[in-house]
Amino acid sequence: MFKFCRFNSKNTSLYQQYLMFKARVFATEFGWNISLSDSFPPSALKDSYDDTSIFVGCFCKREMIGVARVSGPKEPKPYSQLYEGYDALGCNFVVVTSVAVTPEYRGKKIATSIEEGVGKVTIGRRIMEEVELLSGELGSEYQFLTAGYGRSEKFFCDLGFTIIRSKYDMDWAPVPLVDCVKPVKLKSKIK
Ligand SMILES: CC(C)(COP(=O)(O)OP(=O)(O)OC[C@H]1O[C@@H](n2cnc3c(N)ncnc32)[C@H](O)[C@@H]1OP(=O)(O)O)[C@@H](O)C(=O)NCCC(=O)NCCS
Repeated sequence: MFKFCRFNSKNTSLYQQYLMFKARVFATEFGWNISLSDSFPPSALKDSYDDTSIFVGCFCKREMIGVARVSGPKEPKPYSQLYEGYDALGCNFVVVTSVAVTPEYRGKKIATSIEEGVGKVTIGRRIMEEVELLSGELGSEYQFLTAGYGRSEKFFCDLGFTIIRSKYDMDWAPVPLVDCVKPVKLKSKIK
């Protein structure tokens, strides 16, 4: 019923869906400081990291219901100033951004867990499993992400992320932010 797949900005139809999704969830629902008008073109939501990132999408009947964006170890990274110390240590890591599930599907245990093989997990958890597999395939040892302080922070901590910087403000963000990190452990079973 659900399909998880990777895509990049060259896949025009999936990427357009991502931009619409971003408009709906991040701009409209969360009030991120992105200028939108009734007639805005989705391309207005493109950002400079999209072309060098890989997206993990979850689709139900071809409609995107969840997504995450992964910027690989060798690619430019959003919030790069936050990660300079880790770059200096020579760590290989990805930066994960734009993690979201469409409101109707949040909290529903309907996807099969990769880690456990059986048993149902939420779409959000399964997307993060897909992100971890991809991170490993890209040769990274750690996954970094920046989340909104509050509910989503709990989601990431429950998944094994550790907070490394808590509750700071950025002028474009409507809520304080937290940075967190998780080592890549989940490995693909497909050889
Ligand atoms: C965070 C999110 C991807 C989790 O996906 P999911 O399929 O709901 O996954 P789960 O049901 O396993 O997660 C539940 C937890 O997510 C968090 N959560 C639930 N609704 C949320 C919301 N509207 N906003 C932020 N976090 C939320 C809570 O920690 C919740 O745990 P709780 O029910 O014990 O409070 C999803 O809730 C979402 O899209 N939230 C809005 C976007 C967002 O905050 N993204 C985070 C990066 S900035």
